[in-house]
Amino acid sequence: MYKAKVAGVGHYVPENIVSNNDLAQLMDTDDEWIRERTGIEERRWVKEGDGNTAATMGIKAAQMAITQAGLEPNDIGHIVFATISPDYYFPGCGVQVQEALGIHTAGATDVRNACSGFIYALSVGNAFVKTGMYEHVLVVASELQSPFLDKTTRGRGVSVIFGDGAGAVVLSKASAKEGGIKSCHLHSEGKHKEELTMKGFGTQHWIGALLEKGVNPDIHFPKMNGNFVFKNAVVRFGEVIKEALDKNGITPDQIDCLIPHQANLRIAQFIQKRMGLRDDQVFNNIQKYGNTTGASIAIALSEAVQTGAVKRGDLVCLAAFGAGFTWGSVLMEY
Ligand code: ACO
Repeated sequence: MYKAKVAGVGHYVPENIVSNNDLAQLMDTDDEWIRERTGIEERRWVKEGDGNTAATMGIKAAQMAITQAGLEPNDIGHIVFATISPDYYFPGCGVQVQEALGIHTAGATDVRNACSGFIYALSVGNAFVKTGMYEHVLVVASELQSPFLDKTTRGRGVSVIFGDGAGAVVLSKASAKEGGIKSCHLHSEGKHKEELTMKGFGTQHWIGALLEKGVNPDIHFPKMNGNFVFKNAVVRFGEVIKEALDKNGITPDQIDCLIPHQANLRIAQFIQKRMGLRDDQVFNNIQKYGNTTGASIAIALSEAVQTGAVKRGDLVCLAAFGAGFTWGSVLMEY
């Protein structure tokens, strides 16, 4: 078996900043409520006609990651793309990356595990590199969520939380001396599939329902049982981080940087406190970008590297929880 390392990181967020006060113009909400409950101060939402889609944002993040890895697009052996907001119902966004970057005829795998999307995608890429199937795998996570949100008072419990953006990494075969990914841990519990969901369009809620009856908010907008999600998230985050640490014989004080999925600052703070981590051991950027679902950890990792919060040789733990429910963690020496 080989070992995979993160050779390059990248991210892209749309230029359009939407503050909490901007949202208060659209619905009955206010800056204080949003900050107190979620920690979010602003998020990026694409502007109609600005050309941003899940694929195009992912392509920009991917270009940055490939350049940072010192590679050319054609060095990439496989593409893994995580999103729940693809440009098309099918095909997935992976092939759009292949085409835009002109990556010979490399295979493209699409992953749709919502907030755990990047962790799942990274685990797939890691397995490809570990087995020697590919030397370089491009892992992209991108979400264009703003058009799906119910931006009226009816949808305020959900719409104030989410943002748009993309992140990417290049995974490459590590040399014997280098660190790299130590372990990946993935879980799911489908009995909670309806606690955080958007049912339409799926084959059970096809376009006919929309044409006949118009938009049904129970089906065509994301729905979340916020308190239930919160309670499950804090338990599963804690478990899956511990699983990664135990597997590698590591204690929390040895972690240089924990990057939790940017679901909600309160969840991240709860985990930090319970694990006894210092502020400088946890990286959060939800304040600026909101919850970008599958893309959040990828964007945060790229920013953490860019700002020096994560350096070569650091022990980094990534952890996610989201719809499904699905959750997972990755422990690596960056
Ligand atoms: N602005 C103002 N008031 C609001 C808003 C808003 N944006 N949204 C809801 N309210 C109101 C509700 O209508 C309700 O009013 P009522 O008491 O008159 O009925 C009141 O605020 C309380 O509503 P709750 O839903 O109980 O609010 P809560 O304190 O639970 O906070 C939140 C909601 C922030 C979503 C919380 O449940 C939470 O943190 N959940 C964790 C889940 C999460 O963060 N998910 C992120 C996405 S999923 C993921 O990434 C895993």
